[in-house]
Amino acid sequence: MPLVRLDKIIADTGACSRSQARDRIRRGTVAVDGRPVTDPAARFDPGQVRVTVEGEDMAGPGHLYVMLHKPAGLLSATRDPRRPTVLDLMPEPWRRRGLFPVGRLDRDTRGLLLLTDDGAFAHRVLSPKSRVPKLYQAQVRGAPRQEDVEAFAAGLVLRDGTQCLPARLEPVSESLVRVEVFEGKYHQVKRMLAARNMPVTALTRLRIGGLWLDESLAPGEYRLLTPEELERVLPGFLSK
Ligand code: URA
Repeated sequence: MPLVRLDKIIADTGACSRSQARDRIRRGTVAVDGRPVTDPAARFDPGQVRVTVEGEDMAGPGHLYVMLHKPAGLLSATRDPRRPTVLDLMPEPWRRRGLFPVGRLDRDTRGLLLLTDDGAFAHRVLSPKSRVPKLYQAQVRGAPRQEDVEAFAAGLVLRDGTQCLPARLEPVSESLVRVEVFEGKYHQVKRMLAARNMPVTALTRLRIGGLWLDESLAPGEYRLLTPEELERVLPGFLSK
């Protein structure tokens, strides 16, 4: 890849304008591969270096991978004529790069939602063939019994006759359960628990693959994923 000026590398991430990037570089807040660089005209291969501003990783010119702590009340969509969506929380430069949610959480569901501009990544996370586990915590009416745990493990049939893959039901306490699923059907967790007479009153997604929701993110807050975290979602993703 051709070498690109550092101020352009930073501006291309959408984090700030080119002149703001120059200013930050001259103030000594920018490091390339851990070493401070104060010359905005210094050139690097953007695909080969790690650029930080005030110690924070910049979204590089490659793809964006974002973790959001989704609050209740937002649609998992890129736009909606009437109701707010998770994209409304994202900075404008990221929206311009075509960020979209990886799958859907219901409007009233909270917790871990990934957003990206990388269609191949999203496809692999969502494809039933990948069997990426998703862990939810649900507040339910009623109490889980051993028969329910066994029915989840055997592969539930929903009330409309839909067959589900085997899943894991873990009672946490009276009327609080964790459910791990390996596919993503419409309203899946609510429908699974309803099929066992445990209507859901609140639902939170805690984990996708091996990546847990970062507890330091308040609802509505987001941050970029590290390469290690990407690997926790899809092992081997970066080496392919
Ligand atoms: N299952 C549901 O029922 N709702 C969600 O938002 C996610 C999984």
